[in-house]
Amino acid sequence: MSQPILKTPLCERLGIEYPIILAGMGPVASGGEPVATGRLAAAVSEAGGLGVIGGVAYSPDALRAEIATVRSLTDKPFGVDLLLSSNFLIKGGGGRMDTSRPPELPPEATAAVRKLADHLDIEWQQAPAITPTANWVPADKSYAEAQIEVLLEEKVPVFASGLGSPAPFREALESNGTTIISLVGNTRAARRVADGGAHIVVAQGTEAGGHTGRIGTLALLPQVMDAVAPLPVVAAGGIADGRALAGVLALGAVGAWCGTAFLVAEEANQPELQKQRILDAEAEDTVVTRLYSGKTMRNITNPLIEAWEASDIRALPMGQQTLLTRDLVHSIRAAGREELLMNAAGQTSGMLKQIRPAAEILHEMASSASGLLGGLGGRVQVDVLA
Ligand SMILES: Cc1cc2nc3c(=O)[nH]c(=O)nc-3n(C[C@H](O)[C@H](O)[C@H](O)COP(=O)(O)O)c2cc1C
Repeated sequence: MSQPILKTPLCERLGIEYPIILAGMGPVASGGEPVATGRLAAAVSEAGGLGVIGGVAYSPDALRAEIATVRSLTDKPFGVDLLLSSNFLIKGGGGRMDTSRPPELPPEATAAVRKLADHLDIEWQQAPAITPTANWVPADKSYAEAQIEVLLEEKVPVFASGLGSPAPFREALESNGTTIISLVGNTRAARRVADGGAHIVVAQGTEAGGHTGRIGTLALLPQVMDAVAPLPVVAAGGIADGRALAGVLALGAVGAWCGTAFLVAEEANQPELQKQRILDAEAEDTVVTRLYSGKTMRNITNPLIEAWEASDIRALPMGQQTLLTRDLVHSIRAAGREELLMNAAGQTSGMLKQIRPAAEILHEMASSASGLLGGLGGRVQVDVLA
């Protein structure tokens, strides 16, 4: 099969063949390992896109090991995605990882969550006590700082951030030669990350799987482009084939950042049950809920999400919500009801029909987009009125 040609300025900037980036997807199934491990990232990079490790839940040592995995599988460029939300930037004990002093949870919220388990016939079981895991974050550092230090030491070519501004790390990353990518879901965040030092902005529409905003990709992309011009903008949310890729390139994006399309890649670290649920899904089978993380997240729907949304329980802030639902998640696992766990996926789930190697997904996308864009002159008649 001949190799497709599809080049944009993003390819030159990142040293890649196709303007397609694997979204740095973190853990699903309420677990600790990300979907986008080093193995998936390497497969995408080796095939000519940019593979990005979903690094958010990795300790510095685990992150270093994943970076080594990528390097053992490819010598092409790759990236690491982290979250720079405010609670990951608290010094001393690592903020998010400092679970040795869990906050007091509102008793009415705890009781309401327990009622959800009863409603779904799940026997309530208390999760084992949390072992403090903050030891690896020195008192004078935050969780994000400890992770970024690894990126700097390892000279990772690309840093991506799904939340927050890169400002605190801009200087260190730039002097290390690292390209900074920031994801946004609205124009206010776009201006903030542009001011904070992002070299490339990803405009992520609400169609996206995982944490997502309220604006659709088609409406968001041009507005973000206007807000951060002349910075290059990559589109995300709802791009899972060559037609959507051609569309966003025609709108002026320099590339696409794709998550859901790769959730059903052979190399994706995603439980088989969850991959199958995505393959079986229709376009309307995803919903946005705060249940799993406290922030709005698009998931494949399930009876637990439906019961949560129908209840009047208010989600707690990110971090605390995970603690609130800890016993529930433990009970779900103990009952063997894994179909109720987090299965973050986007609206393109409805068009994914088979598990394939990441390289095949990527090449088909690039080749179809290249064909469509090349053929536009023949298919679209343009009449210019004098
Ligand atoms: C399972 C899953 C996990 C995700 N985890 C992260 C994450 O840890 N960090 C991040 O920046 N974005 C994360 N995202 C969002 C993606 O980066 C991306 O913006 C989104 O998948 C793009 O839309 P699409 O799913 O329609 O392709 C996740 C998305 C999914 C589906």
